[in-house]
Amino acid sequence: MIKAHYFRLYIISFLIFLSHVTFAQEKAFLISDNIAVFYPVNYIAEKHNPSFALIEEPEIIDTLPYSWDIKVEFGEEFEKSMAYIKTRSQTWLYGTGESRGNLVKNGETRIFWNTDNPSYDRDSDGRLYQTHPWVLGVHEDGSAFGVLADNTWKQKLSLGDGIVFISDGPPFRVFVIRAATPQKVIQILAALTGKINLPPLWSLGYQQCRWSYYPDTRVKEIADTFRLKQIPCDVIWMDIHYMDGYRVFTFDPERFPNPSETNDYLHSQGFKSVWMIDPGVKKEEGYTVYDSGTENDVWVKDANGDVYVGPVWPGDCVFPDFTQEKTSEWWADLYKDYMNTGIDGVWNDMNEPSVFGGPDWTMPIENIHRGGAKYLRDIHLRYHNVYGMLMVKASRKGILDANPDKRPFILTRANYIGGQRYAATWTGDNVSSWDHLRMSIPMSINLGLSGQPFNGPDIGGFDKNATPELFGHWIAVGAFYPFSRGHTVTGSINHEPWAFGEEIEDVSRVALQRRYRLLPYLYTLFYEASVNGMPVMRPVFFADITDIKLRREEQAFLLGTNLLVIPKWADHPALPKGIWRTISLVGEDSENDIYQTDLKQRGGSIIPLIDVIQTTEQYSTDSLTLLVCLDENMKAEGTLYSDAGDEFEYLKGQYAVDYFIAEKSGENKIIITCSRKEGHLKEEKRYYRIGIVTDSGIVYSEWKNKKKIEISLQ
Ligand code: GLC
Repeated sequence: MIKAHYFRLYIISFLIFLSHVTFAQEKAFLISDNIAVFYPVNYIAEKHNPSFALIEEPEIIDTLPYSWDIKVEFGEEFEKSMAYIKTRSQTWLYGTGESRGNLVKNGETRIFWNTDNPSYDRDSDGRLYQTHPWVLGVHEDGSAFGVLADNTWKQKLSLGDGIVFISDGPPFRVFVIRAATPQKVIQILAALTGKINLPPLWSLGYQQCRWSYYPDTRVKEIADTFRLKQIPCDVIWMDIHYMDGYRVFTFDPERFPNPSETNDYLHSQGFKSVWMIDPGVKKEEGYTVYDSGTENDVWVKDANGDVYVGPVWPGDCVFPDFTQEKTSEWWADLYKDYMNTGIDGVWNDMNEPSVFGGPDWTMPIENIHRGGAKYLRDIHLRYHNVYGMLMVKASRKGILDANPDKRPFILTRANYIGGQRYAATWTGDNVSSWDHLRMSIPMSINLGLSGQPFNGPDIGGFDKNATPELFGHWIAVGAFYPFSRGHTVTGSINHEPWAFGEEIEDVSRVALQRRYRLLPYLYTLFYEASVNGMPVMRPVFFADITDIKLRREEQAFLLGTNLLVIPKWADHPALPKGIWRTISLVGEDSENDIYQTDLKQRGGSIIPLIDVIQTTEQYSTDSLTLLVCLDENMKAEGTLYSDAGDEFEYLKGQYAVDYFIAEKSGENKIIITCSRKEGHLKEEKRYYRIGIVTDSGIVYSEWKNKKKIEISLQ
């Protein structure tokens, strides 16, 4: 009741605010048949940086045709600049990046101001760690559009009456995409703002983290336990306690006296390691990172022109000003020795940037970023939302310089739309609660619908202790997040898969074994994401955009187009019509299981599987099971992407896209043909086993070393 009351008050005050504003639509151009850009009349190009969101400045091909029906109007009032886009009455709105609440965003408000907001709830003002000023709209008939405010300043997005951006910065331009389907809109967004780089295969494995595993013997113990218990896992994470007094790029001499040895040990057991680096550098003379940064004059300044100092984990810190080219180069250089210890991936955290006790828990908006040849000198208010993005861009460069033959893996907490080009993300400090488990699904989906496919929440929940039941349900679903990592806060009980007793250990093992069997399918989806920007985790309504009953479904989700994941706790999920058959991957009987999600395969699809492995180091597609789920015409098809997993030879053609097709061949016979569609990867002598998915289980063939396999359906 109270909430509804406040919402009404909010809408009324908002309408009064809008009534003061005169909107004017100005200068609009076509970028392509599907993309228009709208400029306010008082847009001053010199007041803007090159776009942070876009990969390049797009060329204008024409003025806007009269028939273009989604228009942007601009206004200015109370020193704010605004953009307004009218929407049709039956329009479902999605996107807005990392946002809590429901999948459908109609009626919601978001403030884009990257904020360290631990244990966030559903109902506060919507600030989280990232900024995606982007809305995807889907009409009743399934046609769709997208709106992108090309604006880094603090801004508010209201989705009450149409789409309204209200910014603290100068008048800004807005891009509008129109297409026949939401899938197409997402692909166009990706063409504009970039795609993820194909991640290393190991980063698709399960990852184990806590704040923090230390000393090094504890890290090894965690790794050993995974292997002993035969629970698949690829990565162990090092949180802040590995550092010497929280000084970035250092190692605690007692807890981690020999980080190279720790990394060697992990590698010898088939693990990779990811270590944390925060932006705040301890202000302390004699500490080399501080000294060299000071020497290079890289720090953010306060309004008086002095180096800004604010507290984070190590106490008083200074902050690199990544708008300066020289800062990014200096920062990138720091990774050289660091990565030389055998570190595989980097976790950039606290990069909103978080400043303890600062205004809005960050630095003052009047702080100065000095810019340079590329970026304008301006206050923090302009740059705040891209601080994390600029940091991970520089980190990526440094990691790549250090290991030019390996695909960098970076996880970032703060980011800005387009930042998927540099780093994967997680949804920050969630809570070990049922609500957070439920919320994780629409959050992940909406990030994917905003250009960031490589994301996931802390499995088990970060803050507080998970119960065995909650953890079991969380890992059962978490095995299917694009980014699958368990993590927990300092001081909490153990949150490893075996920490909750035997039953939950078994649940975790089965859930992760299912993920690992699906790796060929998952890797293919990541490849697709890197080529066309399609999310890995997708909303159910993507299965049938004409079925409006699916538009709000946010318990079940799709992995790619062929697999539907239905959590056990899903209450009357809206599911797509047509053939969707339950599959069992490791002998589980999900329909009668308390925890394991139902996995349903789409009729007409072929999903490639490998056998269960413990680490992606054992990954091989020499023996492949093809799960064939026939459609009503007894047909199915599927693809498989493969390459060496962690280098760049694939860019020179050393990859393969294999195509599988199943067709009827005479009465009651199916012929499955495997052919190479793309790539020059040497063809392996691959063994195939066909599994025909039926309503009463999967019927398997023998293993065959052939590219055409005939199966009798009786
Ligand atoms: C932040 C991160 C969290 C991490 C902690 C300590 O709260 O969001 O994941 O464990 O800092 O580094």
